[in-house]
Amino acid sequence: MNIRVASSAHNNGYSIQIKSGLLSKFGQIIKKNTNGPVVLLTNKTIHKLWYKDLRHSFEKAGLKEKLIMVPDGERYKNNRTYNQVISEMLENGINRYSTLVTFGGGVIGDLGGLVAATYMRGIKLIHVPTSLIAQVDSSIGGKVAIDHPMAKNIVGVFYNPTQVLTDPNILGTLAEKEYINGLFEIVKIALVRDKGLYEYIYKNINAILIRDTKAIEYLVSKSASLKAEIIQKDPYEKRLRMILNFGHTFGHALETSGQYKNISHGVAVGWGMLLALQLSHHYKLLDLGKHQDKIDLIKKLIGKNKLYNINPKNIWKTMTLDKKAKNNKVRFVLLKGIARPIIQDIDKNSFIKSLENL
Ligand SMILES: NC(=O)c1ccc[n+]([C@@H]2O[C@H](COP(=O)([O-])OP(=O)(O)OC[C@H]3O[C@@H](n4cnc5c(N)ncnc54)[C@H](O)[C@@H]3O)[C@@H](O)[C@H]2O)c1
Ligand SMILES: [Zn+2]
Repeated sequence: MNIRVASSAHNNGYSIQIKSGLLSKFGQIIKKNTNGPVVLLTNKTIHKLWYKDLRHSFEKAGLKEKLIMVPDGERYKNNRTYNQVISEMLENGINRYSTLVTFGGGVIGDLGGLVAATYMRGIKLIHVPTSLIAQVDSSIGGKVAIDHPMAKNIVGVFYNPTQVLTDPNILGTLAEKEYINGLFEIVKIALVRDKGLYEYIYKNINAILIRDTKAIEYLVSKSASLKAEIIQKDPYEKRLRMILNFGHTFGHALETSGQYKNISHGVAVGWGMLLALQLSHHYKLLDLGKHQDKIDLIKKLIGKNKLYNINPKNIWKTMTLDKKAKNNKVRFVLLKGIARPIIQDIDKNSFIKSLENL
């Protein structure tokens, strides 16, 4: 599948190519679309699993790269690693005609994206996303950033790649937990945007969970197209793009409240979607009695990761500290139906009542 993303921003948009086995052509495609030096940014985990195949493809195309490796993990998505990458690029004479290729999950994409956006005021960027989250979410939409000890993704810009090259086969080596993380984002986009995709997931959940190749390729292509369509209409998150925060308001609060430090992003979003469904029912937007299947599906993905001893007051406080909160109300994405999202400000009582029904 080839998705074209039009853009009125600093470049002329980009294409997202998605195909199982595309990795063997990456060298050829990158060679055709670059003319200066190529920097390949990755981490040890991905290097060990996939570099040999990528190198082989580069070799076939006569493409040489400067390989830069950073440690694996969100905790390295910071200014220190950013500086290390910039130093290595300077030491190796990387110039403004160079291209940076990110080869990894969302962390590598976000970090490398910020490097590309700022190095010599911006060099070409190509994303090769290797995690499910990166393939369906973070490589699309131009948001790039690093974290600060006080806040996540707080130092960043919008910077589009010139290309996104996606091979769903690369997901074969992804840890189960990371795979499920990505599935939550796919369920999210289905619930806010595409009833057909939701029905596909519901019917095929067992094939999806055993990573059936056809199912994965379909899910990645469909979710990537949906995200591309949304960010094209609203690149800077003025309105429509906000629907992608479905499940994230409560999810982020869980992730930042000390008690759930070990919760994975996907599971946190899963609980966030369940709460958003309860709130939608509370405000009489949706009759949850008719949507038990959504609850069952999300709970199936959550598995054993239950919430325990939840402290509603603390969580409410965390949510009101968020940059999107106003006048002691918290902005949520709710549903009037599947693919019928609305943005609504929620008060504390409604939050607490809905939380009790989780
Ligand atoms: N820019 C955006 O729009 C956007 C959207 C969503 C998330 N994000 C960011 O993305 C990050 C989360 O992304 P993520 O979930 O990909 O995390 P990640 O990059 O940390 O990857 C998760 C783990 O999987 C490993 N991995 C990646 N691909 C693999 C593969 N094919 N085989 C085996 N292991 C593999 C990674 O090395 C890492 O250990 C966060 O920092 C988040 O803020 C950004
Ligand atoms: Zn998310």
